[in-house]
Amino acid sequence: MPTPRPIRKAVFPAAGLGTRILPATAVLPKELLPIVDKPIIQYGVEEAAAAGMSQIVLVNSPGKRILEDHFAPHPALDAVLARRGKSVLLAGLRDLTAGIELSTACQAEPLGLGHAVLVSRERVGDEPFAVVLSDDVIDADPPALRQMLAAYAEVDGPVLLVERVPREAVGRYGVIAGDPLGGGVHRVTDLVEKPAPEDAPSDLAIIGRYLLTPDVYPALEQTGKGQGGEIQLTDGLRRLLAQRPIFAVELDGVRHDAGNKPGYLRAILHFARKHPELGAVLAEPPGREPAP
Ligand code: G1P
Repeated sequence: MPTPRPIRKAVFPAAGLGTRILPATAVLPKELLPIVDKPIIQYGVEEAAAAGMSQIVLVNSPGKRILEDHFAPHPALDAVLARRGKSVLLAGLRDLTAGIELSTACQAEPLGLGHAVLVSRERVGDEPFAVVLSDDVIDADPPALRQMLAAYAEVDGPVLLVERVPREAVGRYGVIAGDPLGGGVHRVTDLVEKPAPEDAPSDLAIIGRYLLTPDVYPALEQTGKGQGGEIQLTDGLRRLLAQRPIFAVELDGVRHDAGNKPGYLRAILHFARKHPELGAVLAEPPGREPAP
């Protein structure tokens, strides 16, 4: 089997309206809502960078330029922090942005995830790439994209990240049917976007990470509107499956869907518990700041 080409680019669809977290997202993009002290999208970009994907393609809408600003240099803030001896406060973000190259592609209308990936085509070109839905915030060691790359090195084809979900929840996800190959890897035999529980081919839901090959673009071009009247990535992959094998790997880690209120709260609690200074705050009785 030929060695797969390295994956250097990660596409971040980020043109959505964030309606599930209104009113917080009326002005602020949901990707910039903080989980403890870092915006949602930064967790995903850190994960991509940790997997060697230094070229980030942000699929943005015209009203969300502030997202790019987060990853741009902050010279005025840097200067103030340096004067105050507090440069460390921005060190993590500065190191991250120094190691990545960010470009954007515009998705002017919310026509679906498949369409968002399609508009990244010019930026990605003819090479394999990752898609990261940053709403799905994942805490895993090794990071989720690295787990996927390990599987990708063993198979010949795209790799989707999946997780078992309760039957009654399958309607929120793309769901695969697959033949287990061992080690949590499945050969996908079918995919369906947001099925009713009784129609779902399994309880293995796609959870916001994809390693894709460039032949997904022509497949997406031929994909019409699907569930919700949108062009669905799942439908494009289903079309691609007729031409080549596709694989899925089960996540070894914890995932929260921070794109809705309960999931966002769970993500905050998860990372707060792990935070060296903030974990203890969760154990305090509410309403009173303890004496120092
Ligand atoms: C999207 C995809 C779906 C996938 C999910 C993961 O749905 O269309 O296949 O399972 O992300 O979070 P959305 O959450 O945008 O409705």
